[in-house]
Amino acid sequence: MSDDQKLRVSKIHNGTVIDHIAGGQALNVLAILGIDGADGEPISIVMNTPSDRLGTKDIIKVEGRELSEAEVDVLSLIAPAATINIIRDYDVVEKHRVNRPEEVVGVLECPNQHCITTENEPIDSQFEVLEDGVRCAYCDTIIREDLAAHILAG
Ligand code: CTP
Ligand code: ZN
Repeated sequence: MSDDQKLRVSKIHNGTVIDHIAGGQALNVLAILGIDGADGEPISIVMNTPSDRLGTKDIIKVEGRELSEAEVDVLSLIAPAATINIIRDYDVVEKHRVNRPEEVVGVLECPNQHCITTENEPIDSQFEVLEDGVRCAYCDTIIREDLAAHILAG
């Protein structure tokens, strides 16, 4: 295949490329980062493109914004194999994997309707990150499956 045939979205000038997201998870990654495009920044999303390592993968390119490590670590809950590439003047100036944070605050909603964080109190949700899920710091409820379904809306 020629490069022209392979290229799905163009290179970006300055910003962040989130690569090696498991196929089909790009929209969940954007949701957990709270990025919805409403600020008007150019965002490119490629979904379910062939990958040697992952079978299929998704890629997100955010133009004009360098996402910080703390900001991207939450996405390890959805995309543990993701690579973060910081782009300046078309060059990749930084490349790192995402780290699994010890806790996430204000990111997920506790499924327990009687949890203090879901009862209209001004208290941010807080989850301790376990090896195979997350645990609410207030009521100990554990979420193991489909974390994406528990992402708090922007
Ligand atoms: N990229 C981009 N705009 C640029 C530079 C890079 O959109 N100006 C994208 C590439 O398309 C790729 C990712 O950023 O999806 C990482 O770029 P690069 O390190 O050049 O690619 P690889 O070596 O294939 O990355 P890896 O080894 O992490 O798979
Ligand atoms: Zn709770």
